[in-house]
Amino acid sequence: MDKLRIEGGHRLSGNLRVAGAKNAALPIMAAALLTSEELRLDNVARLADTATMGRLLAGLGVAVERDGQSYALRAARLGSVEAPYDLVKTMRAAILVLGPLLAREGSARVSLPGGCAIGARPVDQHLKGLQALGAELTIEQGYIVARRSGAGRLRGARIVTDMVTVTGTENLMMAATLADGETIIENAAREPEVADLAACLNAMGARVRGAGTDRIVIEGVERLHGATHRIMPDRIETATFLVAAAAAGGDITLEGTAPDTLDAVLDKLREAGARIETAADTIRLRMDQRPRAVSLRTEPYPAFPTDAQAQFLALNCIADGVARITENIFENRFMHVLELQRLGASIDIDGHTAIVRGIDHLSGATVMATDLRASASLVIAGLVARGQTTVERTYHLDRGYEEMERRLASLGARIERVR
Ligand code: UD1
Repeated sequence: MDKLRIEGGHRLSGNLRVAGAKNAALPIMAAALLTSEELRLDNVARLADTATMGRLLAGLGVAVERDGQSYALRAARLGSVEAPYDLVKTMRAAILVLGPLLAREGSARVSLPGGCAIGARPVDQHLKGLQALGAELTIEQGYIVARRSGAGRLRGARIVTDMVTVTGTENLMMAATLADGETIIENAAREPEVADLAACLNAMGARVRGAGTDRIVIEGVERLHGATHRIMPDRIETATFLVAAAAAGGDITLEGTAPDTLDAVLDKLREAGARIETAADTIRLRMDQRPRAVSLRTEPYPAFPTDAQAQFLALNCIADGVARITENIFENRFMHVLELQRLGASIDIDGHTAIVRGIDHLSGATVMATDLRASASLVIAGLVARGQTTVERTYHLDRGYEEMERRLASLGARIERVR
């Protein structure tokens, strides 16, 4: 298994291009199931998760062609409606094929995701919404077995989700594009990735309004057609590199990003003492001092994203002051705390809140990644720790970051992959 070896204490400087958003690419790839014509996608990051989604679609009978960051997906005829356990257990977002399969084929068999390192993460809201659209659902041998009741299409409905769910909103939005009549999703997730999916669906002939707000209206159409779509920039990857430079110090410019999707994150970086300048698609961050402690609470977009919580927690470990980090989205998302403590960090957990007392320096050690964003926080900690840090289980990192070590090294970090 690969590891990352990091020698801390080097500033970051230079320019870096941000990759396409993983969390936009995954639902948008699944949207290819909604049409028999070709969906062409650009700016798809080369990640373990996008490759897994490609494999899942291929298993369903989709012709999948990849050329670098471009995909051509053609679901002329599907040979299967099953998302098997082996794929779903490595990537929960595989649940995103449920809505499209049901809408297009009238049936689906998708493995239940089960638990994961950051908490229970049920999919009850996906199921409740699909039932409202006319699906009959049962659980058989660990699989969600879904059928369209009657011979016709799904039928439009008004759905109010109990909590804000990103992939839940996406699944329901995709299913509703081919339903008979109008669907309204209330309490919808406002994440930019939901809006990016809607833009792609509309390019395919769907009638979706309001994506990016908490009320999405979908006028069902009889069929969708092929389209070309460019995936939006990854705001979480952007946040990760910015926090790395804010923690290690330096002067970096990120290109090909979307500053307007990062308000909450940029505010917190400024509060930490970073100087930030944004242009249409670039962000420059300069940091010449020890960061100041920044408290934060994770909430659905546009508030502070849970996917950047671990990275900011790492920054606070070496900041001046005491920070309170409250995690409101996932119940068990402080797995990185135990590992950061191995590097000397002073952190107490009180329920959903981590209290981080900034110390002068961390000291390098071997640590183990437990999930994707936890891994990113350990890499950031390694960049600022004295001496050598080894981060084990890099496969978590590879799920969501394209060649993290090569790109950090291009900014002057001393980091290498050990196979
Ligand atoms: C998506 C993102 C993930 C991010 C998360 C929250 C993708 C592929 N992944 O995950 O990176 O961390 O949003 O921003 O886009 N919940 C239920 N029942 C449901 C659905 C969700 O109880 O049916 C709960 C979850 O357990 C969690 C909360 O709602 O506590 C939010 O989860 P959700 O927004 O659904 O996360 P994902 O869509 O899985």
